[in-house]
Amino acid sequence: MKGCVGIMFSVLIVYLAISTQSLTDSSMFHKSNNLLCGPTRLSLGWIDKSKSSCAINCQIKYPNDCQGFMYNKFTRSCTPVGPNLRPNNAQPSVTEGDLYFRDGIFQFNTRSNGSTTAVYAYFTHPLNYTDATLTCACLNAHLYVADNLLKYGLMFLLIDFDQSVWIGLDDLDHEGVFIWVATGQPVDPFLKPFIFETFQPDNRNGNEDCVFEQPGLLRLNDAPCSLQMAYLCERS
Ligand SMILES: *[C@@H]1O[C@H](CO)[C@@H](O)[C@H](O)[C@H]1NC(C)=O
Ligand SMILES: *[C@@H]1O[C@H](CO)[C@@H](O)[C@H](O)[C@H]1NC(C)=O
Repeated sequence: MKGCVGIMFSVLIVYLAISTQSLTDSSMFHKSNNLLCGPTRLSLGWIDKSKSSCAINCQIKYPNDCQGFMYNKFTRSCTPVGPNLRPNNAQPSVTEGDLYFRDGIFQFNTRSNGSTTAVYAYFTHPLNYTDATLTCACLNAHLYVADNLLKYGLMFLLIDFDQSVWIGLDDLDHEGVFIWVATGQPVDPFLKPFIFETFQPDNRNGNEDCVFEQPGLLRLNDAPCSLQMAYLCERS
């Protein structure tokens, strides 16, 4: 009985060690100072004893939003960083130290099907259409263009099928004229019924100018640009 309790206790310790490690792992951040735009700072920094401790405290304070941090190993200043980038934000200054991002965030992959290829990065952290557009631009990319059936089909290999996902199509300039933002071209009228959900786009309440992939439907819909959802960036 005593032995049994001992074993259960050890199992518990190992379980706690593993779960704590996956919750706050400092090894999954890598140095990344070569972005076009500055990182979004989640708050003012604090003094922290080490880079790993900075990484861990960032995740404890911001369990959903900590996607990176800045750490100055001389002053020990630690600044938490969020999941998007901004053109007008300053790059880390000498006092803020080096910028580290979580592995995988802001990394692009290539995927092909037959003659169609996309260089893409899919982000599940929800942003509105404006912020999604800005973040893609900061990565030298744009929201995904699905202006032919092959490219449209390829999209479903890149995203989570059951999520709402922004792509780069909107009628912000002229109501009712949907333009692929990256090419400046309007949606092909022959393609439109194949890619949009039936009776969409409908500009419901006069307030739907941005286009997203409707969860589980393999079809597009228009929505208020202020909604926050996953988004798909692409490099030409
Ligand atoms: C690739 O595209 C073809 C149509 O051209 C389609 O039948 C096939 O399912 C696609 N492959 C994948 C993995 O989706
Ligand atoms: C998107 O969110 C940002 C703040 O992160 C805000 O400034 C901007 O106005 C929002 N855009 C829309 C269309 O709601």
